[in-house]
Amino acid sequence: MTDASEKLVFDPEKREFKKTEDGFEYCSWEGLDYVAKPADPIQKVNVFAPAAYAKGQKCGSYSRETAPIFMPNTVGGYMPGPCDYPGNKNFPTNSKTIVAALKRGYVVVSAGLRGRTLESGKAPAFIVDMKAAVRWVKYNSGRLPGNAQRIITNGTSAGGATSALTGASGNSSFFEKYLEEIGAAPGTDDIFAVSAYCPIHNLEHADAAYEWEFCGINDWHRTKIEGFKDGKPNFVPVSGELTAEEQTLSPQLKDQFIAYLNSLNLQDPETGEKLSLNPDGSGSFRDLVIKYLKASAQKALADKPELAKADYLTVKDGQVTDLDWDKYFHFITRMKAVPAFDDLDAKSPETDLFGEKGGKPRHFTSFSQEHSHVDTTLAPADLIAAVNPVAHLLSGQTDTPKYWRIRHGASDRDTSFAIPVILATLLANQGKEVDFALPWGIPHSGDYDLDELFDWIDRIAE
Ligand code: DHB
Repeated sequence: MTDASEKLVFDPEKREFKKTEDGFEYCSWEGLDYVAKPADPIQKVNVFAPAAYAKGQKCGSYSRETAPIFMPNTVGGYMPGPCDYPGNKNFPTNSKTIVAALKRGYVVVSAGLRGRTLESGKAPAFIVDMKAAVRWVKYNSGRLPGNAQRIITNGTSAGGATSALTGASGNSSFFEKYLEEIGAAPGTDDIFAVSAYCPIHNLEHADAAYEWEFCGINDWHRTKIEGFKDGKPNFVPVSGELTAEEQTLSPQLKDQFIAYLNSLNLQDPETGEKLSLNPDGSGSFRDLVIKYLKASAQKALADKPELAKADYLTVKDGQVTDLDWDKYFHFITRMKAVPAFDDLDAKSPETDLFGEKGGKPRHFTSFSQEHSHVDTTLAPADLIAAVNPVAHLLSGQTDTPKYWRIRHGASDRDTSFAIPVILATLLANQGKEVDFALPWGIPHSGDYDLDELFDWIDRIAE
């Protein structure tokens, strides 16, 4: 064994017994190294397990040996995602998720991941770190509580993308040199299952997908962060109109999306029918998105009968029979200008993510590079593909988990519904078991249905 991998050996005896605020006892190992040559102090990992496992007891239906290993991340906006712990009150945190997971009997591994604002944090750092953390868990199989054959990643938004990418890129050779650079544990990094909420992914097609959805809607409405209140960002509303240039570019991007979607040769997971789009944006793929939205509205109707009066829905005898595409998007409103992600001024989180070491942002679509307002370059094509779960799935070169649970709120405007629907459909077409829904009234957020998420984990982890 090399010195480097010795440093990564997990010692189960070096634990502390702690209690959550409501008295649930757990074991804690905090601030451990998951890489031998960290590039940044954020690269630390915390491990938590129900205290029952230290006493040879069961927790729920699991034991120390059988417990799934749940790996939530705190990445948001492709910013650094520090490691997390029960009772953490500092943004960003999923402390409540960790506590709920422990109570279900899961072992929780929370790794700190580099993000775009760190010196070494441009793409692909976030996924390199996540993979290194997975390798560390597998390397310590047996020493670490839990079953390393049952690793389930979880995250929201950019963190959902991180989770989906971890699954889709399992054992990809692209990352080998990056993993070596930071002294990751030897071994594999494929996982058992993915939980992803509103994953902001497939970035190089997200601008086009956004205009497929919002072309013709020229006013945008969003919030911006103005300082912090009680350790949390303070959001204030801002609105605006698309410029003349943006209004010209929007239909061009919409056309690009139609060509892209048709090139994917997706099939309806239920009927096997080829999914496609017509030149005006209508077609069987759009019908599938509408089907998911209608199913979601139907479910919500039981608790919200007033929904039947919404102008974008047709409800007959308690059945949602139609959803008017244009009216629905006028209802939820456009959030982002054009292009939504690969901003022509190179000021978006994503142009920063693809930035050069040292900070200069880069475009990641040739469309924005051609229309750019600033002096920038295009990020390398292999890097853009390497951080896109869809590109990995299409490559067929990686080890991808069988189980996927993807949720994207029906009120989410951060990316087009097409983006999660393409991911879910492609996975299903590749024979994966996909649990997918667009839950009604849910904005850009995650972990809002933990009981259902954990029921799903219990079902697949047996
Ligand atoms: C996130 C949201 C966005 O709208 C985006 O473009 C990138 C990341 C997020 O919440 O993580």
